[in-house]
Amino acid sequence: MKNAILSLAFCAVMPVFAQQKATVTIHPEQGKQIIPKEIYGQFAEHLGTCIYGGLWVGEDSSIPNVKGYRTDVLEALKKLKVPVLRWPGGCFADEYHWMDGIGPREKRPRMVNNNWGGTVEDNSFGTHEFLDLCEMLGCEPYISGNVGSGTVEELAKWVEYMTSEQGSPMAKLRKENGREKPWKVKYLGVGNESWGCGGNMLPEYYSDLYRRYQTYCRNYNGNQLFKIASGASDYDYHWTEVLMQKAAGHMSGISLHYYTVLGWSGSKGSATQFSDEDYYWTLGKCREIEDVVKRHMAIMDKYDPQKRIGLMVDEWGTWWDEEPGTIPGHLYQQNTLRDAFVASLTLDIFHKYTDRIKMTNIAQIANVLQSMILTKDDKMILTPTYHVFEMYNVHQNATYLPLDLQCNRMIVRDDRIVPLVSATASRNQEGVIHISLSNVSLDETEDITINLGDVKVGTVTGRILTADKIDAYNTFDQPDIVSPKNFKDAKITKDGLQVKMPAKSIVVLEVK
Ligand code: AHR
Repeated sequence: MKNAILSLAFCAVMPVFAQQKATVTIHPEQGKQIIPKEIYGQFAEHLGTCIYGGLWVGEDSSIPNVKGYRTDVLEALKKLKVPVLRWPGGCFADEYHWMDGIGPREKRPRMVNNNWGGTVEDNSFGTHEFLDLCEMLGCEPYISGNVGSGTVEELAKWVEYMTSEQGSPMAKLRKENGREKPWKVKYLGVGNESWGCGGNMLPEYYSDLYRRYQTYCRNYNGNQLFKIASGASDYDYHWTEVLMQKAAGHMSGISLHYYTVLGWSGSKGSATQFSDEDYYWTLGKCREIEDVVKRHMAIMDKYDPQKRIGLMVDEWGTWWDEEPGTIPGHLYQQNTLRDAFVASLTLDIFHKYTDRIKMTNIAQIANVLQSMILTKDDKMILTPTYHVFEMYNVHQNATYLPLDLQCNRMIVRDDRIVPLVSATASRNQEGVIHISLSNVSLDETEDITINLGDVKVGTVTGRILTADKIDAYNTFDQPDIVSPKNFKDAKITKDGLQVKMPAKSIVVLEVK
């Protein structure tokens, strides 16, 4: 009965284990939407060793560094082409008082990070350190402002400190602290998770606070703020409805948080030890973000049919149990090939909706949740998720090419449906087409036919990310167990390409 319903609902659907050839039909002539580079955004919170130890070790550290930033991490992040970095939280943002993080480092007060393990921090990484890092990486800063426990005046002065040119008291203070020119700060979050750690507010109350706080965040000297209201968690459509109704006229964006997580109470499951069924369930849960964003976007369409306001998915990714032996509250987790699939499938979905989704920020950049990078003392490893972001960065600012996909599907626990192939395509300014493909199946090679319409293919090259086992991960002793290799199994045909993908593999092709 279940299979019959599925067949009716999706004409291309085959029930579990039925066989059909995977076909991707790309429509290059329909490409019009640019994939904003900000879809590949990152998030760095004062949480565990994300900032201290991960990005920042201080100038006096024995770990090689450039002005206090880890050299190895800096180099890895440059290769990633990070477009935007969100900071200082997360939950931390609503307890952060920025004035404690400026001026001579030795004079800065210490603070307790109450949200994350009660760790004492010395405030040595503050506004200057963050904004200078963004300049070094060539990325946009995304400042998350304190609404939960901070005042309107405090947030207004922070904006003035960072962006006003001259004459103002805060510009004077900034200059005394060694920075003559203001920074360019575009993205400003007004609170974070205001329904929870950001103040436990009701949407009506937060809407009013949002309107009030954002009023005093000024555009100084040509710096144009893109103001982002603290949005819903997952399935809280009521929050989006109320905020859009009451405050749409005052915002440029509204956020959404969606984690691939088993649930918020009890064990979230091991990052590295899981069954095949757990794996497919994870992909089903991660793909559910498509329904979730569609429902939030439908609400936004009611109040903003012109699509002026962006949906900013400024926290997403996997959330597993903390690694045994690590500090509770620091959210340090390993990252396997399964996490790489969560990244590729989610990015494929985001590409489809960039008429509304203008930024996303995976949580987080180092040593926390679904990280790009893990560090231990002076060692660093790149995770499978890093490799997906690096392979996929060819899609940044390219034109999205719509496609149709036919493939086998699987039904997993909780009635989730998992297509066994995922794909996305784009064309860059030089006319080069990139096609990203994921063969989700744990056992089956996929012979994928790719139709490219009128495009005449001259050459095709590619890279592949795979491993012997789906729970494979990189370690400090063996950092390259999961890392990209050259891919040679794409052949040119008269209509496009024929691609032979091994089980559990992710491929990015370059077509000229
Ligand atoms: O990313 C970790 C935490 O998850 C963030 O601080 C918070 O916003 C969310 O609940």
